[in-house]
Amino acid sequence: MSSGTNSLTWTSSPAHALQGEIRVPGDKSISHRAVMFASLADGISRITGFLEGEDTRATARAFAQMGVHIDTPSASERMVHGVGIDGLKAPGAPIDCGNAGTGMRLLAGLLAAQKFDTTLIGDESLSKRPMRRVIDPLAKMGAKIESGEIGLPPLRISGGCQLQGIDYTLPVASAQVKSALLLAGLYAQGETQIHEPHPTRDYTERMLRAFGWPIEFSEGHARLSGGHRLRATDVVVPADFSSAAFFLVAASIVPGSELTLCDVGMNPRRTGLLQALRLMGADIRETNAREAGGEAIADLVVRHAPLRGIDVPVELVPDMIDEFPALFVAAAVANGITRVTGAAELRVKESDRIAVMAKGLRALGARIEETPDGAMIEGAALHAGEADSTGDHRCAMSFCIAGLVAAGPVRVLDCANVATSFPDFVELAKSCGFKLG
Ligand code: S3P
Repeated sequence: MSSGTNSLTWTSSPAHALQGEIRVPGDKSISHRAVMFASLADGISRITGFLEGEDTRATARAFAQMGVHIDTPSASERMVHGVGIDGLKAPGAPIDCGNAGTGMRLLAGLLAAQKFDTTLIGDESLSKRPMRRVIDPLAKMGAKIESGEIGLPPLRISGGCQLQGIDYTLPVASAQVKSALLLAGLYAQGETQIHEPHPTRDYTERMLRAFGWPIEFSEGHARLSGGHRLRATDVVVPADFSSAAFFLVAASIVPGSELTLCDVGMNPRRTGLLQALRLMGADIRETNAREAGGEAIADLVVRHAPLRGIDVPVELVPDMIDEFPALFVAAAVANGITRVTGAAELRVKESDRIAVMAKGLRALGARIEETPDGAMIEGAALHAGEADSTGDHRCAMSFCIAGLVAAGPVRVLDCANVATSFPDFVELAKSCGFKLG
């Protein structure tokens, strides 16, 4: 492992069979929301399985900055002393959302409805991510938000605006935009209704209900009114399917592997990769299916299996939007051609994930052509080399997986941001047979 001031380089070397039983860290989307709703509730909420990642800690810090007392009795546990729906205080300084698009977009909705002004800032990657998708509909609700050029952060949010409910159809499938509007809707006069072109993860809706806010929702639709209160409740955070995804691909492509991933969140709006991998011939079994804290969870047993290229069904795209870097690696070593379409959103994630994955995998001998909304990937043998994650956590972990099946070591550049979503990735990966350091 080598590191400079801003960079961390890992080397991933060819590995033998991956074996073992592991639990990846808590779900990032749920951890962000749990802190938010617990902070706004009346009473004390206990969160277990909280993701100790930089993104979710930044969200917890934001609420601490706004007067919420949050205890950490043990790692992955938080006791949040809610201040009530109108109890937040002016933060006194800009709120730093770090690398987290979810943090910034959801906070934009919430803060647009407060009595005080706020400024949201982020790191270099977040400062390049589009915010008009939340600014424009929030402005229609009566919010005043100034951004940098072409709708980029920082966001300067004026307090004291009385918001009105909105009936809004999302132009892109985005749970972050939906959630920002629902958060603003808690404070708006009248009803807020959201319609989605394709249903996205519904954690905001489920959690609002769990915290006692009346809300109606079904696939692709959510409706609530302002003027209620949130009641403290305990939240059990399942293991993050998106973090499990790297191990699903790794064990699928390394001969002789058999891995068990425990307590994985199985919300159907998150598990598109499972379906795509199965279409490619992957051997993944769900066992011990159950519910924890209102979310479906299961243990996943994945065994090595030869993979073949597929046309990824376009309707699966929103349900696996964070898993494409890992899917690209599976496709790069599968038999035949994989085509990804309808995934232009990948270009505005923590990096342009189509470009970063194509460039990095090509440097390892993969055959990939970019398209505006996806890629065409032809399976090939990978060789040793260097892949630049450009600071994107999911691309970094994906290149580490490519190193397992390349003919020689793969140097993965700029890995520090893996800590945003998966702080113990190296240790956990090594515990099941990765050669990584
Ligand atoms: C998230 C929604 C998705 C996803 C992100 C987390 C959320 O983003 O990519 O990692 O927690 O709501 P979009 O809403 O931009 O699709």
